[in-house]
Amino acid sequence: MSNEPTVDPKRMEKIVSLCKRRGFIFPSSEIYGGLASAWDYGPLGVELKNRLQRFWWREMTQLHDNIVGLDAAILMHPTVWKASGHVDSFSDTMVEDTVTNERYRWDHLTEEQRETKTSPKGNPLSEPREFNLMFKTHLGPASDSGSTVYLRPETAQGIYVNFKNVVQTSRVKIPFGIAQVGKAFRNEIVTKNFIFRTVEFEQMEMQYFVKPGEDDQWFEFWKAERLKYYDKLGIRRDHLRFEEHGPDELAHYAKAAFDIQYLFPFGWQELEGIHNRTDFDLARHSEFCGKEINYLDEESRERYIPYIVETSAGLTRSVLMVLSDAYEEEEVGENDVRTVLRFHPMIAPVQVGVFPLVKKDGLAEKAREIEQTLREDFSTFYDQSGAIGRRYRRQDEIGTPFCVTIDYETMDQGTVTLRHRDSMEQERIPLGELAQRLREAIKTYRRAET
Ligand code: GAP
Repeated sequence: MSNEPTVDPKRMEKIVSLCKRRGFIFPSSEIYGGLASAWDYGPLGVELKNRLQRFWWREMTQLHDNIVGLDAAILMHPTVWKASGHVDSFSDTMVEDTVTNERYRWDHLTEEQRETKTSPKGNPLSEPREFNLMFKTHLGPASDSGSTVYLRPETAQGIYVNFKNVVQTSRVKIPFGIAQVGKAFRNEIVTKNFIFRTVEFEQMEMQYFVKPGEDDQWFEFWKAERLKYYDKLGIRRDHLRFEEHGPDELAHYAKAAFDIQYLFPFGWQELEGIHNRTDFDLARHSEFCGKEINYLDEESRERYIPYIVETSAGLTRSVLMVLSDAYEEEEVGENDVRTVLRFHPMIAPVQVGVFPLVKKDGLAEKAREIEQTLREDFSTFYDQSGAIGRRYRRQDEIGTPFCVTIDYETMDQGTVTLRHRDSMEQERIPLGELAQRLREAIKTYRRAET
């Protein structure tokens, strides 16, 4: 069983292949040879991504009574990106292998490669140069500099520019948060590792506005909360760790920053950033738009620019994380290995598989009827083809946590077989209790230690 915290590139290949084969993720525009670093989410992939997004949204907005939502436009006034610092500082230093023309990020090279100006292939490197990561486009028919707009490189700025709108309309009081999920775009120099780093991706960001002086305490609070979130999602704790940014790694806006890293099959990498952004963003927007952006504490009559603690997770990167975490090859008998995705049932693309043991004697019709009823509350999949064992395995491979089999006893005694993906255990339960049992099992799910 490949469940140890180790780096395993083969595991990555298997995940990519499963994603293609079962309809989770396809290369973008594949019939034209694909587009580097862009991916399309297929029928199962979009379910997984949407459910993961809803899991995050519920956790952040529904379960915290002082966090509200927002959905800002991708295209924003270009001054936003001057104020935010992205026009001046959102760049990576890039070098090129002078023989193969391959590009590398300067900070991804080893110290020796940087000192000797040698590429990983052993060839001389070009002079380092700065490369702004924002995609530019033009608004309207004229392509002059006055019409330049940017595809947003982070969703956060949409929240800052709406700070006053939200305070004036939502009766929120500091400390409070604004959450947003949406697309972001970065013209990354190097994209690799499947959907890990792409030019178009989705972020799930929450900006928490606090009183200056209370920021350190809220920073610690959100670090703890975000770990609890991953625990609830059933992610293996030994595959998660914090990594603090040193003084020379801090983004231009940050006073303190921690990454939550995940042990992907290709090594420890950032999954989410937690940043203390101080009053940088609101102060800068206030300066650039020429209007006061601050907060009046109605009780103390104090007026101040709030500090911001940000939690910024990649949604598409989280899809890769849950796939990596869930993927297992498990020995289940002599020379018998099953591939299983141990998704939390809340995010599984299919939650319940429904099968008639055989098609005849009215079993198929009964199974269809049961599946139609379950559809109201769960995402279901009906399958009547092949041996029952093979049908279970097909569902294991896409992470379906529960399967229900309808047989002759269902017709005679009104009971069904409920099969659990993780333990492969089967139990007989009355049909009338099925929906409630499934609801409970989803709500109380804990991934077993394997
Ligand atoms: N608002 C702060 C911000 O954007 P970031 O550390 O640059 O911070 C936050 O990005 C998260 O967005 C990352 O932890 C990662 O999960 C995701 N992300 C960033 N660039 C990405 C890319 N090119 N492809 C996929 N996900 C990316």
